[in-house]
Amino acid sequence: MGKETHKDLDFHLVTLASPYGLEVDNSRLATLALDVKNSVPDRLKYYLAINDKVIRGKVREKFLDEKESAFVETALSEMFELSPKEALEYSLKRVETGANLRGVYAVLGTLKDPVSLKAILLGAKKLSTKSHEDVSVLDLITALENRTEKEAKQALLNHKNSYPKENTLGVYRHTLAGGEVRLGKDLVDSGKGQCIICHNFGWRGIKKVGPHLSRIGKQKRATGEYLIRSLIEPSAFVVQGYGDAKVSAMPNMKNLLTKSEMRDIIAYLKTLKMRGD
Ligand code: HEC
Repeated sequence: MGKETHKDLDFHLVTLASPYGLEVDNSRLATLALDVKNSVPDRLKYYLAINDKVIRGKVREKFLDEKESAFVETALSEMFELSPKEALEYSLKRVETGANLRGVYAVLGTLKDPVSLKAILLGAKKLSTKSHEDVSVLDLITALENRTEKEAKQALLNHKNSYPKENTLGVYRHTLAGGEVRLGKDLVDSGKGQCIICHNFGWRGIKKVGPHLSRIGKQKRATGEYLIRSLIEPSAFVVQGYGDAKVSAMPNMKNLLTKSEMRDIIAYLKTLKMRGD
């Protein structure tokens, strides 16, 4: 039996128990949820199947310290459902100390109350004093964009007005830090932006309309700035031999992908370093 099948079976055995009134092995689920050898989606699946409050709470606490934002986001939104006051205090503290805020801002951006706004505005204030970590600036901006309060709109405007003239990328500048490789790969593999129709990501494959991307991460030209421009201004640089020299055949991704998705895809592209194409 393949490894995957084993895992699936494992999952079905523990979760099927519940509808049939059998006892779910919650400790086993907790172990599986915390096992870094399992994939992120699997770990989240195991977590969501835990139906013992105490065990689930312990795993949740560990998820809050994970690097991947999906864990933080899942844990924190659940915390907001269970005990909003505690969750808000936690979020404020987290914004204050400033580490790994992607999942935190993702949750704060969806809320509507004044205290969670305070946490976001605290982030905006840190941004204006340049004491905010680069990697979650995009998430802070997205949270500000998602909030309807006028303080949020004002903070956003202040931030955008503070861009130096040299920043010709505007808000897209923030897609250059903090992307998550796994999410980028999942987006590409799932057909988002249709990259796979026009590009090869592995080194074998039929010739497609666009250049091979299997070693784009190794190419000198492929700086973060070059990659984001490829997505939002495809005709800015046209790769030789593809299309006529001025106009790219690649669609502008501004309408097809969110900034956050572009950030993840760029992080993924940077890891593509296969030899030969
Ligand atoms: C309709 C076809 C098409 C689609 C869809 C498409 N591309 Fe392209 N892409 C091209 C072509 C053609 C070029 C070469 C011309 C140019 O440089 O713009 C290119 C160039 C690029 C380059 C520059 C490559 C280099 O070697 O410098 C990158 C990076 C890139 N695409 C990434 C992507 C990503 C990521 C997606 C999906 C989000 C995507 N493309 C979707 C056709 C496409």
